Amino acid sequence: MENYEAYFEANRSLWNQKTPVHLSSDFYNMPAFLAGQSSLNRIELSELGGVAGKSMLHLQCHFGQDSLSWARLGAKVTGIDISDEAIEQAKALNAQLNLDATFVRSNLYNLKENLQGQFDVVFTSYGTIGWLPDLEKWAAIIDHFLKPGGTFYIAEFHPVLWMFDDNFGKIIYPYHNTHEPIITETEGTYADKNAPIKHIEYGWNHGLGEVVTALTSRGIYLEFLHEFPYSPYNCFANMVQGEDGFWRIRGYENMLPMVYSIKARKKYS
Ligand SMILES: C[S@@+](CC[C@H](N)C(=O)[O-])C[C@H]1O[C@@H](n2cnc3c(N)ncnc32)[C@H](O)[C@@H]1O
Repeated sequence: MENYEAYFEANRSLWNQKTPVHLSSDFYNMPAFLAGQSSLNRIELSELGGVAGKSMLHLQCHFGQDSLSWARLGAKVTGIDISDEAIEQAKALNAQLNLDATFVRSNLYNLKENLQGQFDVVFTSYGTIGWLPDLEKWAAIIDHFLKPGGTFYIAEFHPVLWMFDDNFGKIIYPYHNTHEPIITETEGTYADKNAPIKHIEYGWNHGLGEVVTALTSRGIYLEFLHEFPYSPYNCFANMVQGEDGFWRIRGYENMLPMVYSIKARKKYS
């Protein structure tokens, strides 16, 4: 992965800048979270559900809201993330809330050097795999840390969404992973568009076939792949909220796939 190191370092610095902005944003609504509100959405809660007593590895956990929400439901959670700031904040929140989650700072691709053990569940969600260039190596990490018979679950923004320009006027990016980074210069963050952050991001789009094949080639077989024409988050331009509480792109309501989820089980060897 040496060729990608400079991109990972740039993204790490970017997420270090984003973390304090996110902590004080309305988007992440820390007062409600601290008062006991879950940050998890209906999609993953209903589809993964039942985590009490299970060990869970949360990949790319950011500053730990979702990890700690699973911990509040009784999971024994380990969250990992490349961002130093995010992991520091996650550890502080864990202590503040008197929970028993563990947080590890690591590039996902170096996780074997930084974490031991195997887990009942590996979980990742919303805005994670787009930071990863190579899903075969991603699936190898999931395989390594997932117990035989264990569950892998992902809820993620749909690759079709990432093909559009910021205003959803035009398709400007490929659906398939070209293995070259998609380089975007952005201001602000999805949680606070006016935040004084200016940065270059390096990302990769992953078609559904690439995601599914990476998992199944490791013996992590799908129970389902669901596609949703809505998002639980108001994090793109021109979004409108429906009566169901979910968000859609204005003018494309219920026409675009916006989120997908996969639940899969690792085979017993
Ligand atoms: C959009 S956030 C995930 C958000 C998550 N849904 C949440 O709010 O809890 C993406 C996370 O991926 C992390 N990340 C990016 N590249 C990574 C890498 N190579 N290894 C580990 N974490 C990475 C970032 O630091 C960031 O915290």
